[in-house]
Amino acid sequence: MKNKFLTIFTALLCLLCLPLCACKKEISGGPQNNLSRETTTLVLYFSRTGKVSALAEEIADNLDADIYRIEPQIAYPEDDESANEIARDEFNSDERPTIKNKLSDLSKYDVVFIGFPVWLDNLPNIILSMTENNSSFEGKTIVPFCVHNGSGADRALVSLRTALSDNRFLSLFSVLESEAESEQTKTDLDNWLEQIL
Ligand SMILES: Cc1cc2nc3c(=O)[nH]c(=O)nc-3n(C[C@H](O)[C@H](O)[C@H](O)COP(=O)(O)O)c2cc1C
Repeated sequence: MKNKFLTIFTALLCLLCLPLCACKKEISGGPQNNLSRETTTLVLYFSRTGKVSALAEEIADNLDADIYRIEPQIAYPEDDESANEIARDEFNSDERPTIKNKLSDLSKYDVVFIGFPVWLDNLPNIILSMTENNSSFEGKTIVPFCVHNGSGADRALVSLRTALSDNRFLSLFSVLESEAESEQTKTDLDNWLEQIL
């Protein structure tokens, strides 16, 4: 008799809890744009003159993430005009410049931030050397960030999405070169991370 009562009581309890479980599931499904601080994150970037590095370091510090700077086999010249000329040649010939320190194993990361300066209204080709036809990126969530000098990042983002067409992307953080190292940008960056986390 006692057992029968217990069985009925448990069944009733389960029935009562069902709507709560369903509700919880919906909430944890949450917005598509969210990450969690528990995910393993890599901040990968290319920077010639240090502006993108500043953002990359702030992101990596904030998230306690690993950080990796893409180094070209042949460094770009410090002089802007020469760098521009080389970038244009690479762009026109659709070249994929060699990476000196290519990172082949991304298996421990769930999320990869990818940082770049906008070059010729697009991505520096070396970002394509890293991302195109690279199965290490399979299944990773990509979070792009960039620095530019006024042209914005629309075309660069299209190129990155094309190179990583099977990946899930979160929203871009983009900033003007003149503001890349400001306190305001640091605050904006931290707020953006709060939003996507
Ligand atoms: C070769 C080259 C091409 C560039 N093209 C653009 C461009 O099309 N649009 C733009 O807004 N800025 C352009 N810039 C400016 C860079 O995006 C800007 O200087 C950025 O801050 C560089 O980042 P870094 O210091 O991390 O290398 C170009 C810079 C270089 C060197």
